[in-house]
Amino acid sequence: MSEPYRLPDGPKTPELLNGLAFLVARNRIIKKWQRRYGDAFSMKMPGFGQMVIVTTPELVKQVYTAKPDVLHGGKNPLGEILGPGSLFSMDEEQHLKERRMLLPPFHGERMRSYEAIIEEEAEAAMDAWPEGVEFAAIESFQSITLRIILRTVFGAEGRELAELERLLPPMTTLGQRLVTAPILRRDWGRRSPGGRWKRMHAAYRRIVDKLVDDHLADPALDERIDILELMLRAQLEDGGEVDRSDVADELLTLLVAGHETTASALSWCVERLRRHPEILRRLEEEARGEENALRLATAEEVLRVRPVINATARLVMKPFPIGEWLMPPGSRVVTGIAPLHKDGRFHENARSFDPDRYVGKKPDTYAWIPFGGGMRRCLGAAFAQFEIDIVLRTLLRNFELQTTTAPGEREMFRGVAFAPSGGGATVVRRRALGEPEAAQSAAAPDSADLITALNS
Ligand code: HEM
Repeated sequence: MSEPYRLPDGPKTPELLNGLAFLVARNRIIKKWQRRYGDAFSMKMPGFGQMVIVTTPELVKQVYTAKPDVLHGGKNPLGEILGPGSLFSMDEEQHLKERRMLLPPFHGERMRSYEAIIEEEAEAAMDAWPEGVEFAAIESFQSITLRIILRTVFGAEGRELAELERLLPPMTTLGQRLVTAPILRRDWGRRSPGGRWKRMHAAYRRIVDKLVDDHLADPALDERIDILELMLRAQLEDGGEVDRSDVADELLTLLVAGHETTASALSWCVERLRRHPEILRRLEEEARGEENALRLATAEEVLRVRPVINATARLVMKPFPIGEWLMPPGSRVVTGIAPLHKDGRFHENARSFDPDRYVGKKPDTYAWIPFGGGMRRCLGAAFAQFEIDIVLRTLLRNFELQTTTAPGEREMFRGVAFAPSGGGATVVRRRALGEPEAAQSAAAPDSADLITALNS
């Protein structure tokens, strides 16, 4: 007997139109439909079919606490590009096992052992920052976060590090295009996107194979602190051969998931701080010591007001009751991160940038979801927050960030993440060596300008 499935109301526009509307202005469209249809609404999307978008902590909790055999995260287009060895392609037992293996180094002592690498990479990139002229910080943040992952996750150095640094940015950009248009994935010849992907992927595999060989030949393998070491050890302890293809898929997954997202979050940090001189002044003061409560809260607030990923999706495998509805297998349930974060019912003065709301107070598990939730919550969440903290500290200690009264930058989708439309336009002055006090921001706006900036 078929189940009496019930879905919330929603726009009746054809899939293709919905897809186009999403490409052009997804955040605005979701807000509009939420206002019209309520906290849960149905819609159809090309390539995804029937979807229900939910936007309250209560409904989000039902999604993130569902059993792994009821909602799957896998079978998404990203998994198809990244390969069967990617966490994005796994579900249930296999997913759980892989997460158990990968999670420890992204927390605690092992994660903290990456501090020196993070600081070193931030300092090296910031050495090239120009003084007194505006530049888009995102490019520098992307190169910092790329090198940090290549060193801490891939354990790459020397020639392999340089080769991956050259290969991976164009390769991941191409991968993002293939995700949105499956037709492009076929190999139609050397110059076609599919053909180029095949060649780039082969080059990537050659470099990863060399890294694996070097690791396995290293007599001090146990002393290495990178995540590739851990993956190899886990596979060897499992009694099997090293599956190089799976290792390559998972390394690429960690890079794709962790590089642009963290760089975009850092760009939003400078974008917001340049428009909030009082918070910036307090952060400069804090950075002179070893405390970081305000810095951590600032990162949390940036991820709330400017979430870089604006939704997470699950595929319904068994009839899924949510709210007053019952979703059928084959449909998808999507948590709307952006609308939830900006809803005044769940965050006081939701539109204002106020890091103090999180000083000494943990954000609510189901109202603050920049890293998603449940069994598929971002594996690198603690690592990303640690990385943002150290890069921001390096910036504050070395530079005076100039404030601005310019309107806030718009949220722009860049393939994986939402980043500031101006790339986090930045103007800095390098602090003199041993400068005792953080200098006043040069362009401190008067109060009228400040109000405009705060509201933007
Ligand atoms: C500010 C930076 C980051 C943000 C905002 C972010 C956000 C997210 C979100 C929203 C998800 C989907 C969660 C869900 O479906 O419930 C996710 C998944 C994931 N993220 Fe992140 N992420 C960030 C950085 C990182 C880093 C640095 C890494 C690792 C180096 C990483 C690795 C992953 C992985 C492996 C998954 C898939 C987890 C699974 O399916 O089990 N992320 N991330």
